[in-house]
Amino acid sequence: MKKLAAGNWKMNGSLEVLAELAKLEIRHKESTVDVLICPPAIYIQPALSLFSSISIGAQDCHMYQSGAYTGNISAEMLADLGVNSVLVGHSERRIDHTETDSMVLQKALAAQTAGIKPIICIGETLNQRESGQTLNVIEKQMNGSLHKDLTSYPFVIAYEPVWAIGTGHVPSSQQIAEVHNFCRNYLEHNFHEIAANTPLLYGGSVKGSNAKKIFAIPNVDGALVGAASLKVDDFSSIIEALEKS
Ligand code: PGA
Repeated sequence: MKKLAAGNWKMNGSLEVLAELAKLEIRHKESTVDVLICPPAIYIQPALSLFSSISIGAQDCHMYQSGAYTGNISAEMLADLGVNSVLVGHSERRIDHTETDSMVLQKALAAQTAGIKPIICIGETLNQRESGQTLNVIEKQMNGSLHKDLTSYPFVIAYEPVWAIGTGHVPSSQQIAEVHNFCRNYLEHNFHEIAANTPLLYGGSVKGSNAKKIFAIPNVDGALVGAASLKVDDFSSIIEALEKS
């Protein structure tokens, strides 16, 4: 399985940042890992014309193909542009837009129908972790947002503890390993034929300084990177750590 370094810009960045990040194409020309950047939707088209070896993804898609859904973008439209991946169920979408597991599943299926790989995000809150609920929450999210129909097309899972996102607090290696092993076992049990080839990303305060340690954890096949994916040197050192892992 090819490892993946995915950048989630959230509502950050600019055309200038995009042009700066194009340096990654030279630095990681012959990369052994996949590199993906998910800028805000408005920057997808310019990103596609600027990048060739780095893939461009979206941060969300609607669950329906078309219709009266003002302000939304469908997976078909993303595919039309040449987008190959889309984040679904990021905790900021789940919290700010009250997205449920079943909406996340509908979006993942819509993406696959359009020929786009969904990156399905899951993760517990601090409260849930502190009350010992982490694996129950992860199992519930996977039960709700994964479906046997997904197996006909590749997908990616990103484990992002909500309390680690943008906080600088990274779980211990044991905590990450526990969840990633749980996810791999879940896939082996429920999606046996694709389990070994479904990348499991870790996300939440990944930096150049902690990437090597995180990528040494079993069943961590890459990262979903927020803030550090907007700076060439920071993202480059994460990609390099993944290439060497
Ligand atoms: P962060 O964000 O790397 O800034 O913590 C990760 C994410 O939300 O995907």
